[in-house]
Amino acid sequence: MPDDTNNMVQRADDLEHQQMKELEDKIVTKSLLFQLANGLRTMTFGQGTGKQLLMGDDPRLPAMPQKPTLQDFFRLRFAVGPTQHLLQSANLAQKNGLPEKMVLGCLLHDIAVCGFIRADHGYWGAQLIEPYVDEEVSWAIRYHQALRFYPDESVGYPYPENYIRMFGADYVPAPYIQAEYERAKQHKWYMSARQICVNDLYSFDPDVKVTLEQFDDVIGRHFKQPKEGLGNDNTPSSHMWRTMIRPANAL
Ligand SMILES: [Fe+2]
Ligand SMILES: [Fe+2]
Repeated sequence: MPDDTNNMVQRADDLEHQQMKELEDKIVTKSLLFQLANGLRTMTFGQGTGKQLLMGDDPRLPAMPQKPTLQDFFRLRFAVGPTQHLLQSANLAQKNGLPEKMVLGCLLHDIAVCGFIRADHGYWGAQLIEPYVDEEVSWAIRYHQALRFYPDESVGYPYPENYIRMFGADYVPAPYIQAEYERAKQHKWYMSARQICVNDLYSFDPDVKVTLEQFDDVIGRHFKQPKEGLGNDNTPSSHMWRTMIRPANAL
């Protein structure tokens, strides 16, 4: 290996080791995804250090109940500030008289951004909740990912001004987003996904706090909480909830 490559690998290894924090005599490993987001393509399996790896609850994070509910994830895992965006959007949907299940859709539309993975958030979010909600709700969340980028004057939805600030005036959505938009337009649930965009509220009054309790009834009626607790049940997304409970499990 040339010297500069050696140095680069060494530097990445050092960083990796810095980032593996010792904790109650255990080593916390990080998924490659977290490293990639830092621009790094390195990780170690954590072998050969003479210490055990963290498996199980992470004492740095709030303890979760044995049988966690959706509300427990809101309170104990999701990012504190951004969660207001979900509550405010659902609040607006309620004021606008959307059907209850779509109020739930608005409450959960960015659940991936606030709690899991933000890239392709509509897809991750839809997958996460799919086993527990009406099909129309997860469909709408999946497709708001694409519809966000396209105006619909018929419901007064313009191209979001903040996207010009965030992504630049010349930003063009990726081809798969364009294709998804075309597919969504033909679908019977198009307007449900569109309503998520219409009620997607960023410019809310920061002094008005909407509480999660306001939606307990809506959640109760339209989100099938598993009796074993989210993550302990046996659905195609249970592992995703478990990963949110214990994001630094070594395996
Ligand atoms: Fe979104
Ligand atoms: Fe949103």
